[in-house]
Amino acid sequence: MTKTEQLYEGKAKKVWATENPDVVIVDYKDDATAFNGKKKGTIMGKGIVNNKMSNYLMQILEAKGVPTHFVEELSDRETAVKRVTIVPLEVIIRNRAAGSICKRLGLEEGMDFIAPSIEFSYKCDELDDPLISEYHAISCGFSTREEVDTIKEMAFKVNDALKEYFASIGVELIDFKLEFGKTSDGTIVLADEISPDTCRFWDIKTHEKLDKDRFRRDLGGVEDAYAEMMKRTGLEK
Ligand code: TMP
Repeated sequence: MTKTEQLYEGKAKKVWATENPDVVIVDYKDDATAFNGKKKGTIMGKGIVNNKMSNYLMQILEAKGVPTHFVEELSDRETAVKRVTIVPLEVIIRNRAAGSICKRLGLEEGMDFIAPSIEFSYKCDELDDPLISEYHAISCGFSTREEVDTIKEMAFKVNDALKEYFASIGVELIDFKLEFGKTSDGTIVLADEISPDTCRFWDIKTHEKLDKDRFRRDLGGVEDAYAEMMKRTGLEK
């Protein structure tokens, strides 16, 4: 499979067309941003960790019956994925309070939720990805009721599968963000990435942060946290 033209460059990835109209190549960068691009930096080796971890997790999810965009890992940083139209929603599942919900609801970080929650943001950089309800998503035509229902069902299934997997490697899955895409035949599949950029991972015993919060909050040890997650998932070279 070969790259033809570059279709898109985002904050953390580039996307290339291929000779197959239904397949694109994602190329993971080491660039890191936070707060909608206001904070910028580099996390050395992050592209490799995110590419490999995301592919590994997507294959676990496929085995559990969750359709994903994954096709084939091509190199340390490159993966062939199904070409999709991204549903313009960021879908966030939370198992414990951390990040923006603490500020919004005045919760203490680490509060264990009675049940996992789901929320939707409208993917729009100019508006800072505002929080919306599922009714807004439908009213505004971002997705249909059927798609929202499918997305919710898939997102909770992803949570069950990933919580179980990460617990088995001594990591608690605090929260995460998913994106979904529509293939040419209208099927909804899990897209984008699942990585320390898009999840909060805490060591199950010590609650040490093993994710991008180390970069967002200037906690230090950013590369080490990514490397530790790579090690625990058994993906280290
Ligand atoms: P939040 O607490 O900042 O709303 O983040 C919730 C989860 O979503 C957290 O695991 C980080 C992830 N996330 C992204 O992947 N991209 C984003 O742009 C934001 C704001 C959060």
